[in-house]
Amino acid sequence: MAQHILGVDVGGSGIKGALVDIETGAIVGNRVRVDTPAPASPSSIAEAFKGLIKKIGYQGPIGCGFPAIVQHGVAKSAANIDKSWIGHNIEQEFSAACGNPVKALNDADAAGLAELTFGEGKNQEGVVLLITIGTGLGTAQFVDGTLVPNTEFGHLYLHGRIAEHYCSNRIREEEKLGWEEWANRFSEYLRHLERLLTPDLFILGGGVSKEFSDFGHLLKVNTPVRPAKLRNNAGIVGAAVYAVR
Ligand code: BGC
Repeated sequence: MAQHILGVDVGGSGIKGALVDIETGAIVGNRVRVDTPAPASPSSIAEAFKGLIKKIGYQGPIGCGFPAIVQHGVAKSAANIDKSWIGHNIEQEFSAACGNPVKALNDADAAGLAELTFGEGKNQEGVVLLITIGTGLGTAQFVDGTLVPNTEFGHLYLHGRIAEHYCSNRIREEEKLGWEEWANRFSEYLRHLERLLTPDLFILGGGVSKEFSDFGHLLKVNTPVRPAKLRNNAGIVGAAVYAVR
């Protein structure tokens, strides 16, 4: 019988969850979303998380992608969330709030796990780099299918700016960059990663990946670049897979 596990993706603006068939990677039923509260502190996000689980009416193991460095369930950074998360145990906070066992990992690592299991990176050997383009830039590196967790390459410097402050989707919107201008910046970022890591494949995820037809042809980099097959659902799917690993 198919195993349906709840995957949750905590983001800067919304917390999204859905049941996932972890044999196929398909989303089962509706994707449910609640707003990320401001300030995005541990107790306020835990309340919102609890509300989401109640809305879905789920009991069982939950996987959660979280927008920070996550080591053994503990947040170790807070670039786009409240600083009080640093040193806080995400798994304990969310498990206590909703009464279900929760396992947490970095959001980009979750998206990467989904793509490497069911999507673009399936059976892909060598070095694969998935980049989620959203409020920040999240990265997940795989070597012959094995995740190297918490890479945080979105925080490399380009032109004296943190890369995610130079070419994330938030910056594209805030600085009103056209596709070409933004793609030029993003290409510089890809070429920088190329020089440092020699990847065999780049996979682009996050909300903007569904717009790949608008900008994919504008990217100038030698390594092949493909949009995430699971698009913006990759984070939810990967989190569900991680919950029962
Ligand atoms: C965080 C990463 C996260 C990425 C995408 C960055 O600011 O440092 O941990 O994966 O945003 O949410």
